[in-house]
Amino acid sequence: MAKHKTAITVPMIAARKGSTPIVCLTAYTTPMARLMDAHVDIMLVGDSLGMVLYGMETTLGVTVDMMVNHGRAVMRGAERACVVVDLPFGSYQESPAVAYRTAARILAETGCDAVKLEGGVEMAETIAYLTGRGVPVMGHVGLKPQSVRVMGGFAVQGKDEAAAQRVTEDAKAVAGAGAFALVIEGTWEPVARAITTAVPVPTIGIGASPACDGQVLVSDDILGLFGDFTPKFVKRYAELAPDMEEAIKAYADEVRARAFPGEEHCFGAKRGPTPKLIKG
Ligand code: KIV
Repeated sequence: MAKHKTAITVPMIAARKGSTPIVCLTAYTTPMARLMDAHVDIMLVGDSLGMVLYGMETTLGVTVDMMVNHGRAVMRGAERACVVVDLPFGSYQESPAVAYRTAARILAETGCDAVKLEGGVEMAETIAYLTGRGVPVMGHVGLKPQSVRVMGGFAVQGKDEAAAQRVTEDAKAVAGAGAFALVIEGTWEPVARAITTAVPVPTIGIGASPACDGQVLVSDDILGLFGDFTPKFVKRYAELAPDMEEAIKAYADEVRARAFPGEEHCFGAKRGPTPKLIKG
């Protein structure tokens, strides 16, 4: 059984509706979890790790094994924040029973607090099945990256009347089915704002609205860990990639120039050769 000991629980997150904003960031590894644990309320082991860490073009290739491994890694760095792990594409959509088996495995093998799944009205039955059997579920509506093929790209949702209605119905269905909180991704601002008023559970926005009960971003995005593309909804709080590249280049230059390692990095270098070693 994996460890479980985070201080912020699922009911504590659910109780934050309309209160102080919930701070959420993605976390995929132990060192990053250790860095952010004191500062965030939720660490989300998002399936975005497929794109961020593994260079995939979409999240569709992410497996349950990957989520279990990264979930366990994050739990090793978590003392305080509530940890939520994504159910990856193909591991829950087939039926409530399949979803239950995947969610139960992830909860048992990682020790995380809850799982997150994408979907609206069509997933309400599954969410009710899971929450009725002891699995805390965070919903995810609006732009659903696992539906990228159906959407034909990562398109902003809720832009016209009918689309706004669809996202709103999705949010209500997910909350009504028992989800303790709800990510609203890539959705027209007034729609996300109205949903936040309409549902009784906290909404956590990404490319949504400042009116949401909390905000989530991909940690690598806010840290500037890669440089090519910054989506409109991301704010960069640091530009770490250039510093990292500079450090890597400095190391490479020193190795090539035999400037590294110095004596101070070697064991016994100042004591001269050891006779036994040079004989052999
Ligand atoms: O996979 C993920 O990281 C997510 C967040 C961006 C909400 O679902």
